[in-house]
Amino acid sequence: MRRVTIGVFDSGVGGLTVLRELVARIPDADYLYFGDTARLPYGSKSRETIAKYAVSATKFLEERGAELLVIACNTASALALDAITDAANIGVVGVVEPGAESAAAATRRNKVLVIGTEATIKSHAYQHALEKRGVQVCEKACPLFVPLIEEGWLEHPVTQQVAHVYLDDVFQDFESGPDVLVLGCTHYPLIKPLLRSVAPWRVEIVDSAEATARCVAEGLRIAPPKTSEGAERRKPARMKFFATDSVEKFRSLGERFMGHALEDVQHVDMG
Ligand code: DGL
Repeated sequence: MRRVTIGVFDSGVGGLTVLRELVARIPDADYLYFGDTARLPYGSKSRETIAKYAVSATKFLEERGAELLVIACNTASALALDAITDAANIGVVGVVEPGAESAAAATRRNKVLVIGTEATIKSHAYQHALEKRGVQVCEKACPLFVPLIEEGWLEHPVTQQVAHVYLDDVFQDFESGPDVLVLGCTHYPLIKPLLRSVAPWRVEIVDSAEATARCVAEGLRIAPPKTSEGAERRKPARMKFFATDSVEKFRSLGERFMGHALEDVQHVDMG
């Protein structure tokens, strides 16, 4: 199959959790990653502002040869997917629909808890996507998680305490509460082990990053490699990164999200 160029857009480094999953499923592709680090966080901004920023990033990635665009940012997917899709001349995939699809398939009780930024939760995008699939939804904004994760406090007692404050109420009565927890923010996969220890053990955690990568691979008809030899035979992914703020900051924070050093990082000025 011809090598495809996939654009990945996020407000910052968080979308690298989605890129990581994409590369694991679709290793023989070229990736252009745009992190709008100068203008983050998106999670506290209005729909209009997020749409304006996301559309300019979309045009940037398209001009550089992206043939398919993945909106890794949950906030941008929740608030601006229509605006992005209207402005784009290429296919656009957000994280909300794949995340909701995966959660709907996982719940046995038809009750799901979605956590995300203030803006994602206020948009009720996950709620609408899940209700369409006949699933009842609780939503909880967890705005402190993003700064705690960027601080590197992935297992810190403060993060643990904050998680209890956010989640204990919802999980108080497991027998009648949600049995699936959706990670509706790019950053949350990094605290999955901590969330695992806070949520009741029977609650399944659904990661929208994983669900999105699966959906993109299925869309491109790419089967997961059956053996590690098969994976090795594929040409490794080529990745180029664009950041609107400091390259150094993007590299050092991004390494933690991606799990390895980021080589080709360029600064871009969006004006
Ligand atoms: N990328 C955002 C999201 O997934 C989190 C960071 C931000 O607020 O910009 O919602």
